[in-house]
Amino acid sequence: PNKINSICCIGAGYVGGPTMSVIAQKCPHIKVTVVDINEERINAWNDENLDNLPIYEPGLNQVVAEARGRNLFFSTEIEQGIKDAQMIFISVNTPTKTYGTGKGMAADLKFVELCARQIAQAANEDKIVVEKSTLPVRTAESIKRILEAEDSEHEFAILSNPEFLAEGTAIEDLHYADRMLIGGESDENGQNAIEALVDVYANWIPREKLITTSVWSSELSKLTANAFLAQRVSSINSISALCERTGADVEEVAHAIGMDSRIGSKFLKSSVGFGGSCFQKDILNLVYLCRHFGLPEVAEYWEQVVKMNDYQKHRFAKQIIDTLFNTVSGKKISFLGWAFKKDTNDTRESSAIYVAYELLQDRAEVHVYDPKVSSDQIYKDISYLQEHSSSSPYCKEKLPKDWKELLHIHKESDLCLKNSHAIAVLTEWDEFKNINWDSVYANMYKPAFIFDGRNILDREKIAKIGFEIKSIGKG
Ligand code: NAD
Ligand code: UDX
Repeated sequence: PNKINSICCIGAGYVGGPTMSVIAQKCPHIKVTVVDINEERINAWNDENLDNLPIYEPGLNQVVAEARGRNLFFSTEIEQGIKDAQMIFISVNTPTKTYGTGKGMAADLKFVELCARQIAQAANEDKIVVEKSTLPVRTAESIKRILEAEDSEHEFAILSNPEFLAEGTAIEDLHYADRMLIGGESDENGQNAIEALVDVYANWIPREKLITTSVWSSELSKLTANAFLAQRVSSINSISALCERTGADVEEVAHAIGMDSRIGSKFLKSSVGFGGSCFQKDILNLVYLCRHFGLPEVAEYWEQVVKMNDYQKHRFAKQIIDTLFNTVSGKKISFLGWAFKKDTNDTRESSAIYVAYELLQDRAEVHVYDPKVSSDQIYKDISYLQEHSSSSPYCKEKLPKDWKELLHIHKESDLCLKNSHAIAVLTEWDEFKNINWDSVYANMYKPAFIFDGRNILDREKIAKIGFEIKSIGKG
């Protein structure tokens, strides 16, 4: 097998950016070029000021500072990038389709297909093509067919190498991966390609954590991992609803069951619902595949994980409206957090969007403070849901025409919280624990309500000040 000394990655997003930065950091002998059609994004990756990188991830700045310009490059020259590399990663977005066959369920593979065509057109020698994007099982077959049909001169090996990093902890997850999965074909070309990629990761990941499988198992493992993780969140969230009715405490229940080593304690945190660009998209994709392969019972089983999540977001919004005497019209509801989890500026599928949407439907004045999300992004998120409202059964109604006047974004939490009727915690940012609640209370309408969608506040302390606090899963 070839020793790899040049890599190109197509797609400089939340996955391509951090993964390639870490490969470059750990493999100074490999030239890594990340290419993207989005010029603005590439410029931001090349910005002298590291605080302007297009994505926020703890520790990313240092990694980029170490490798950029040495053996890590960001560029819009896609064709050149492909030509110069022995190994090409495809790390483009694969969102849920919003049109045509499979609308609202299947993964949209148009960007991946375009990459395959770009690779075939630019290739000047045999190449190893690595699927880094999350893809439906058997996508490698389509990629291979396109490559071979467009370019019969060169040989292509297709590998599946799904990414398991979570946002907010991407660098740590990449440095200390639980495992790295590489799927390849069983012929000699395939096995050589697997070995070439294993060699790259072996620069910092222990050999026993590098697992190799068939392409199909690897592709399916990624969808399965996300489905299992999301299922745990929906499972504990379903129990949170029962806790609220019965007086049980969901955190006590999670702790008690999590101590069973067969269940395990991680990923049992009840919340306002899971968000992020992956869980919902990947489960819907799995559901679509099951239906496609004639397995409606299996499809329905997994679909329930998404339905429970929709219900959890709706339950939270409804609780706010019900508690505020059945109307929020004209009332100031202040959101702490908009990102789908702490330590990221990513808002894709964030629960905050859906909760805000339901409150705006009821004509609330929604005020938002998030330490990392731009005001532009927040307006975009609501506009997008307004256009594609079918993605949640509870957000089907169009918003009032003047909804933009009902939504206010703040740069400081104090101003956001001042004179509000209710406060809702949507993201678990650490800084929210240090808010001066005495002064917030003094400047609020009474009864002063707090809805803690992340269970981060000290209930006793908050209640003592005079607030009425509602937490997830606490009766
Ligand atoms: P992203 O939207 O942040 O980035 C994708 C990038 O690809 C964009 O910058 C886009 O401009 C670029 N692109 C699209 N088509 C292109 C083309 N033909 N040529 C050049 N550039 C092109 O997406 P992401 O979050 O990085 O996700 C990428 C893939 O990784 C998805 O399949 C996703 O499911 C998977 N994944 C994501 C995460 C995560 O935490 N975000 C984790 C694991 C896996
Ligand atoms: C997820 C997977 O964890 C990762 O392996 C995969 O590569 C991409 O998808 P990500 O979406 O970035 O990562 O973050 P994750 O930490 O999994 O959180 C997803 C959502 O679930 C967040 O909204 C989070 O707040 C929520 N969550 C997570 C809970 O509500 N409770 C939990 O116990 C864990």
